[in-house]
Amino acid sequence: MQALIETLKPGSPDHALALSLDPARIPAHIGIIMDGNGRWANRRSLPRVAGHKAGVVPVRTAVETCARLGVQSLTLYAFSVENWKRPRTEVETLWQLLRFYLGRELARLCANNIRLRAIGRIDILPPSVRRELDAAIGATSANSGLVLNLAINYGGRSEIVDAVNSILQRASESGSLDSLVIDEDAISQNLYTSGQPELDLLIRTSGELRVSNFLLWQIAYAELYITDTLWPDFDRRALLEAIAAFQKRDRRFGGLRPASAHSAPSPSSMEPVGSPSS
Ligand code: IPE
Ligand code: IPE
Ligand code: MG
Repeated sequence: MQALIETLKPGSPDHALALSLDPARIPAHIGIIMDGNGRWANRRSLPRVAGHKAGVVPVRTAVETCARLGVQSLTLYAFSVENWKRPRTEVETLWQLLRFYLGRELARLCANNIRLRAIGRIDILPPSVRRELDAAIGATSANSGLVLNLAINYGGRSEIVDAVNSILQRASESGSLDSLVIDEDAISQNLYTSGQPELDLLIRTSGELRVSNFLLWQIAYAELYITDTLWPDFDRRALLEAIAAFQKRDRRFGGLRPASAHSAPSPSSMEPVGSPSS
């Protein structure tokens, strides 16, 4: 958190916003559905791919801001299993941009101690993309700061299916299939995000009120933050505002707020009105 404040101009709105955050309640894991590139381009009468190009800038901002804030994991939705339905030229531009991003950002990721991971069915990506992705993942694997998960050819349902299949396969290999019981921990431990903190905050840009197959298991108790801002316009201030909003939420996880719990009625005062004892 201090690392971020040091980079901001004293007196600037971002500096004031960063100072207003509670360092003890920085979300451990943030997921972002980076949506609205096409609409951003449409509004400027540009081709959709111009929106995707413009969307690379806020990726760097979000990644470095999260790293400096002390966020442990950031998961960015870059390409869904459903995005193959788009025109081939658009999909190819997205792969080119991913390679451009990796080439341009690798040194900065290392300088910021960021560990890159890819989540999704990446085995079927074009070989050139996979090669660069694997190289970048390898080059950052010893970094100990922010874990940056790029969700590529990712689907929340496929992730759960893949988790269940790996549990089944391991049980089959060890001859324990007959006695296998799958519980929540087993699924969590076999997700692509295994070992990372629970998702605290899910941000979606461009105003759509849906999750579009993103982190379906992990969002169970995440706080949802949806902004009309289109992804290419999602700057550092927009991210700090999302985190400030997150810190104002009352997270109960199905329980009660500590104050309510203390003032809970005693069992004797809980008799229903009109019950024989009243
Ligand atoms: C998000 O922007 C980027 C990807 C899905 C790859 P969109 O391309 O979905 O932009 P809109 O939703 O059409 O505006
Ligand atoms: C979700 O956005 C996928 C990514 C941001 C990568 P979409 O634009 O594909 O989602 P829908 O089609 O609006 O649900
Ligand atoms: Mg979209």
